Amino acid sequence: MIDPSVPFRLAGKVAVVTGAARGIGRAASVALAQAGADVVGIDIAGPASAHVDFNPADAAELAATGALVAAAGRRWTAITLDQRDLPALRAAAAAVRSGFGGLDILFANAGIQAFKPILEMQDPDWHDQIDVNLTGTMNALRAFAPLLVERGGGRIIVTSSTQGQHGMKNGSAYAASKWGIIGLMKSAAMEFGEHKITVNALIPGLIDTPLTRHEDRYAQAIQTAGGQASSDVAKDEAAARTSLAAKSPLGVPWIAPEDVAPMVVFLASDEARMVSGGTYAVTAGDSANIGA
Ligand code: NAI
Repeated sequence: MIDPSVPFRLAGKVAVVTGAARGIGRAASVALAQAGADVVGIDIAGPASAHVDFNPADAAELAATGALVAAAGRRWTAITLDQRDLPALRAAAAAVRSGFGGLDILFANAGIQAFKPILEMQDPDWHDQIDVNLTGTMNALRAFAPLLVERGGGRIIVTSSTQGQHGMKNGSAYAASKWGIIGLMKSAAMEFGEHKITVNALIPGLIDTPLTRHEDRYAQAIQTAGGQASSDVAKDEAAARTSLAAKSPLGVPWIAPEDVAPMVVFLASDEARMVSGGTYAVTAGDSANIGA
């Protein structure tokens, strides 16, 4: 039962984290381990789309997350797969069941982002983000939720975005995928409640990860603030930093992934057992601009 003197402890729990090689997934893996959970880290650890403007994660990064989980004293297993592949996720779920005896927490977090005006869109500009972000998140739920049912309860946390709460110029595929994840989360919360499984969505603000630290994203921030990008990456990074910080109530251009991870630990905890069907934002105040 809950021990109020030691809040948000996850001792004895098993967590699956998708997108664990770096960024938010890595920070959450480490925080979950520090709270006492064993972690199974899933990642494609390679290119997920030819239509993104950032470098893919690799096997060394996934292993580095594992080293950090091990340094926290918890058990770690890495599984490399593409979350568009439901049979691969089901095989991973079988491996978690046999290797860890079951599952308590699913953090379905992996995703990609790209920008393309609707009038210039080719099929992969739409499908890569919808398939990885929305279908891939659903695949993770379909593969791992049965283990939570077997356990008699558990936690599912999915990663949406502030762009799942408003529109995004040149970002329709990403925004649609992240709005879709909120619809998925709310529906799953309704279906899984009878199994004592909570389902919630994390809403990260702009987080300092490879997904956001590249010219395309700087250009987007500059254009949103009414300016014009120059294609000089250093200059555009500085301009993006200034406009993003000006828009942020806490004056923060990019939030560290480690500042997002505690929300995942809370939502994964026994203390959050009455928290389900909601969105939980870590945006340095940007939620105040959105109204959600
Ligand atoms: P990241 O690029 O650092 O990490 C994403 C991880 O997901 C990578 O390790 C990547 O290899 C993995 N991945 C991508 N496609 C995959 C696939 N098909 N199968 C398995 N693994 C796959 O990005 P970041 O920023 O950590 O993003 C994590 C999640 O947070 C994503 O869903 C993203 O959309 C979301 N997000 C990020 C924000 C940000 O500002 N960085 C803001 C709001 C949401």
